[in-house]
Amino acid sequence: MAHDTIVILTGAGISAESGLGTFRDEGGLWAQHRIEDVATPEGFSRDPDLVHNFYNARRVQAAQATPNAAHDALARLERDHPGEVLIVTQNVDSLHEKAGSRNVLHMHGLLAGALCHTCDHRWTAPDNMAKSDPCPGCGAPATRPDVVWFGEIPYGMDQIYAALSKADLFVAIGTSGEVYPAAAFGQEARQAGAHTVELNLAPSSRVSDFAETHFGPATRIVPDWVARERAR
Ligand code: APR
Repeated sequence: MAHDTIVILTGAGISAESGLGTFRDEGGLWAQHRIEDVATPEGFSRDPDLVHNFYNARRVQAAQATPNAAHDALARLERDHPGEVLIVTQNVDSLHEKAGSRNVLHMHGLLAGALCHTCDHRWTAPDNMAKSDPCPGCGAPATRPDVVWFGEIPYGMDQIYAALSKADLFVAIGTSGEVYPAAAFGQEARQAGAHTVELNLAPSSRVSDFAETHFGPATRIVPDWVARERAR
């Protein structure tokens, strides 16, 4: 039976084969940088230049990255199910959009976004951003990346929980299940009656929430899964 409300959660693993680093794999971003220095409001207050350098480098790298077969397969799935697929991504790259996905919710924000620390004005981030850049809205030298740091509230939570409550299919792709609230979405969807699928390189910390699992590189297992879903 085809599914008509599909929520797909993606994490860094779906972008790994596009050359963008994950966080918790061997040698990942959190092995190279301290979370408290580059991914917290306190770290930004302490050393805004260090934080901007971290995100500026990732922004330039992400802008040069291209979507892979997994992103492309999800865009195909959305074209097959117009208005019925929501991608909730923890990723701050724009590879889902580059692949053609339209209904994408960036719960951790976007590298391509700039935010004013003073007035909450948002605009498109230049490649190299600095805190001293004046906000186009209020002029304050309070520019930060529009990404959600640890201790901050993710974007779109009301929309996400509303979608989970009516999903009949929930798929988690390329996420370790280590960061909340996203790590609990599988359980939420399952309790609401959805069929739950984990597509990952290896079992995540929340693998027991999933009725169906497939392990391997996303560029293989995601197109395979989408092909089976399309054939339903
Ligand atoms: N194909 C499929 N899965 C992969 C691949 C691949 N090629 N490479 C890695 N993975 C899987 C890993 O097995 C791991 O389970 O992707 C997952 C990556 O986990 P994390 O690095 O923890 O990334 P993520 O789950 O997205 O982190 C969540 O933590 O630090 C915060 O804000 C950050 O959004 C991020 C959040």
